[in-house]
Amino acid sequence: MKVCFLGCGNIAQAIIDGLLKSGMQPSHISCIERNEQRVNSLKTQGLQIIELENIASLDFDLIVLAVKPKDALGAAKSIFKHLPTAIILSVVAGIGIEKYSQPKSIIRAMPNTACAFEKGVTAIYALDQNSKAFLTANNLFRKIGHVLTLKKEDEMHRFTSIIGSGQAFLFQVLNTYLEELNKISSADHVATKLMFQDFISSLSDSFSQDSNFESLINKIKSPGGTTQAGLESLQDNNLDKILQDAFQAAEDRSIEISNEQ
Ligand SMILES: NC(=O)c1ccc[n+]([C@@H]2O[C@H](COP(=O)([O-])OP(=O)(O)OC[C@H]3O[C@@H](n4cnc5c(N)ncnc54)[C@H](OP(=O)(O)O)[C@@H]3O)[C@@H](O)[C@H]2O)c1
Repeated sequence: MKVCFLGCGNIAQAIIDGLLKSGMQPSHISCIERNEQRVNSLKTQGLQIIELENIASLDFDLIVLAVKPKDALGAAKSIFKHLPTAIILSVVAGIGIEKYSQPKSIIRAMPNTACAFEKGVTAIYALDQNSKAFLTANNLFRKIGHVLTLKKEDEMHRFTSIIGSGQAFLFQVLNTYLEELNKISSADHVATKLMFQDFISSLSDSFSQDSNFESLINKIKSPGGTTQAGLESLQDNNLDKILQDAFQAAEDRSIEISNEQ
């Protein structure tokens, strides 16, 4: 598979890192990027840096559009100008397929940065879900994690709020844990980091043994104990609603962004 990225910032870099880890050859990944610092760093990974003008002469299976929403429609137009038959895999948030000049040539995907560790969760949607390009796009994201095919494009907003933005909500929560730990930890920064790293990864280990959160909680909680007291406080402060409101706010913003373009 040969892939070209137009825009190689945070998310493209996460996808590229995952693809390289999965065994893809750097020579099979090309990048079009205008930020000089990023270009230098991409070169150190052995990736091909190309100009948009040359996109038609190189035979790519997929062209991944990974620029900010404000740059997306212009960048897609430039690709079609040089390669009218291009199939663009857009990871741009909030811009619906119908906004592009050639909607049938767009596959939309919403990956997360966990792609860098081959643990991504990516939602994918296209008007034609039986095309060869859609299968290729699926295969690309399967190399670096899990893929969820959406039946309706609108579902992308909710997916973004839970798996995309939602990852940051969990980081925010974990930051509070770490700040509290730091207040009482006599260990140095490196030791505390390792301690916290194991604490986070043990959550994943627990979930892999038992995917029922209620039963996991019950293994920690005892009647009248500390955990129960803390859980009751979370319930009194309506933690569920706080999170649901955050998902809703992110989803609303995603819809707003799509209407702004
Ligand atoms: N970050 C995430 O976790 C994430 C997850 C899912 C989806 N997304 C979506 O992915 C897109 C990119 O996000 P990001 O966080 O990776 O952004 P980013 O870090 O700003 O990366 C975009 C890069 O593309 C460059 N660029 C823009 N237009 C270009 C052009 N015409 N030719 C060459 N290079 C160009 C930008 O250069 P300049 O800096 O000079 O503008 C920048 O280096 C966004 O639309 C976002 O909605 C992001």
